[in-house]
Amino acid sequence: MKKEFSTRSEIFNEQYLEACGNMSWYDFVIAMPSLVFIVTGWKSNGKENACLQSWSTFAGSGADNFTCIMGKVDKNGHMYQSLKETKVCVLNFPSYDIYDRCIKTIGNNQFDVDEITASGLTSEKALKVDAPRIKECYLNIECEFLWEHELFEGSREMVVALKVVNICMDSDHYDQNKLGRYGKTGFLYQVDQPTNPDTGEKTTIIAGTLEPSDPIPWNTK
Ligand SMILES: Cc1cc2nc3c(=O)[nH]c(=O)nc-3n(C[C@H](O)[C@H](O)[C@H](O)COP(=O)(O)O)c2cc1C
Repeated sequence: MKKEFSTRSEIFNEQYLEACGNMSWYDFVIAMPSLVFIVTGWKSNGKENACLQSWSTFAGSGADNFTCIMGKVDKNGHMYQSLKETKVCVLNFPSYDIYDRCIKTIGNNQFDVDEITASGLTSEKALKVDAPRIKECYLNIECEFLWEHELFEGSREMVVALKVVNICMDSDHYDQNKLGRYGKTGFLYQVDQPTNPDTGEKTTIIAGTLEPSDPIPWNTK
């Protein structure tokens, strides 16, 4: 049975949503998968910054314009600060096998810490931008800052658009007969505690991978 959800139930109290990272109750009702990546850059003291990121989308428009729209960037975070200062960053895509180390970037988030190295990952120089990138990530997308906008007036986070200027990708991942982009070794998705809005029951899924479906006949009429 389909149901309507327009009024927040008490299951989702404001303190809990705040503690989860300034979330909306709709985040948990919908629990929509979103690509996971780590944004890396230099902090003003020359230390590596690494920020786990999701809620983003990627769009090509014309042969040489590929843009990333990060839908939720905390105005008070190091990543936003670093991006405003340097105008560049790298988006690093981890596979499941290194996600435990990626999560450690959250605990190593202090200003005077090299966050990539402290999390057991390896920092390497990006090719086209002055930012560190993560060697163990199979895909590194190097970007320049394009524009920003408040998510809504007075919002705590910004929408940030980035122009892609270089891609570094592991050949075993762009060969679907080897590790591939999909399946257990490919793109990783954030799935945030899917919650039953009637009972409040949570499913403790925090990440997932994409299982490709069988081909669908492309009959549009
Ligand atoms: C899987 C995952 C995805 C995240 N996505 C975002 C996001 O899209 N936007 C955001 O502001 N914080 C996000 N966070 C929280 C930040 O990664 C976290 O607050 C981080 O420590 C901030 O780093 P910074 O101070 O270097 O900006 C996410 C956390 C996780 C675990």
